[in-house]
Amino acid sequence: MRVNEAIGWLEEHESESIGRLMEWLAMPSVGTDPAHDADTARAGQWAADHLADSGFEVELCKTGTPDAPGHPIVMASSAGGDEYAGPHVLFYGHYDVQPADPIELWDSDPFTPVIQPADGEIGERIVARGACDDKGQVMMFLEAMRAWYETTGVAGGGVKFTVMLEGEEESGSVNLERFVRENADRLGKSDVCLISDTGMLGRGKPAITYGVRGLAYTEVTLSGPDQDLHSGLWGGKVPNPINELVKVLSQLWDNDRRVTIPGFYDGVRELTQGERDAWKALGTDAVESLRGIGLGSEADVGEKGFAAIEREWARPTADINGIIGGYTGPGAKTVIPSQASAKVSFRLVDDQDSAKITRAFFDWLTERTPAGCSWSFEDHGGGAPATCATESEPLRAAARAIEIACGTSAAMIKSGGSIPVAGLLKETLGLETIFMGFGLDDDRVHSPNEKFELDCYRMGARSHVALIEELHAIGRASAR
Ligand code: BES
Ligand code: MN
Ligand code: MN
Repeated sequence: MRVNEAIGWLEEHESESIGRLMEWLAMPSVGTDPAHDADTARAGQWAADHLADSGFEVELCKTGTPDAPGHPIVMASSAGGDEYAGPHVLFYGHYDVQPADPIELWDSDPFTPVIQPADGEIGERIVARGACDDKGQVMMFLEAMRAWYETTGVAGGGVKFTVMLEGEEESGSVNLERFVRENADRLGKSDVCLISDTGMLGRGKPAITYGVRGLAYTEVTLSGPDQDLHSGLWGGKVPNPINELVKVLSQLWDNDRRVTIPGFYDGVRELTQGERDAWKALGTDAVESLRGIGLGSEADVGEKGFAAIEREWARPTADINGIIGGYTGPGAKTVIPSQASAKVSFRLVDDQDSAKITRAFFDWLTERTPAGCSWSFEDHGGGAPATCATESEPLRAAARAIEIACGTSAAMIKSGGSIPVAGLLKETLGLETIFMGFGLDDDRVHSPNEKFELDCYRMGARSHVALIEELHAIGRASAR
């Protein structure tokens, strides 16, 4: 069978595949940092070349405007074999990575990938920024495409693919919406979107993710006196913007840890009993996962009335991601600062709207403006939540592919993270997304010492190879 040949190719050429991944990881494509613009461009070109080597038609598309250019989007396509009657699949991934900071906490250079034993576990891992998010995961698809091309000589193994790889996912996909709208004709020819940028249920437990949360990201600044002041001479006489900022922000949650902004929960889809039961049956252990980050069971806190997994997958939250203000250098300095700011973000669920939530938050702050102070607001954007179909032909094909490739069935899970493109594709083109990702909770994505385990890479690459055969099978079944 052709699928066995392609899987055989993967096994035989694994060390070259991993070598290629390491070459890609060595390119510091930190999309958000202009100092890395050339590296980011190089990483995009690299992916384009890889796809071209596997028989894809490839194009690097400019984004943004001439004044504010964005990172290019790699677009590639395979025509599909004459006999192909399965779905046209849009594969999405991102070649940009998060900044490596704080660099001193890495045990090895973030852009000099190394292979290490997976400590305490069997096997090996690759350590580098982007090892899992998302170069390592995109690589599973790229090498699956290579395997099929090498063994059959046909791009995509005869499946009709459109590939879209962006370089701005980690900085909020600012140019993606316009690109998707302008290329709606081309992208709209796809039947379903496939993304490898999520995690598994656990080690050796592959999963299909059918939903991600949305995000609204803001930065708010509270200004008081027009200069920094001696806190002995002025303390108690004037508003201290830091004191006032934290007093206001502490009102964001009530005693049940629900967000207090009026209308915040409007439209939030309530969890069904069926979903609650199904998630409970997955057997995730909240206490165990807390232990993994140095916490005890008493730290299992969050919105009242919901289990940890329900809070992550189906409930909206508010978080302060950073506070800036006053003296933060060594030693002591008695000062009342002139300003204080906070980065505040909200994770959203269906059917909350990111822009609406941001507006409601700014209005809520305005109503609470501390005497003698004034606000300025910045909207850093975000993305829509997406809950996708849990039942479709392509989804069943993905589940079969995982079962064949991993020898165990795929759990149906959601994720608390955000991948803005999914909501965007659903809204603009009506496309459903299948998230077939192979990360682990302890992969330290966005953190120092990010890693991807070779066992996960293997499962992912094999699953993508097997998916080709299953997509063909959909076409054959419908022809009968
Ligand atoms: N791949 C992640 C999201 C993710 C990780 C989903 C693990 C599910 C499991 C993605 O690259 C990411 O980091 N997204 C950002 C959102 C973006 C708008 C900056 C996030 O979730 O914070
Ligand atoms: Mn990602
Ligand atoms: Mn990320």
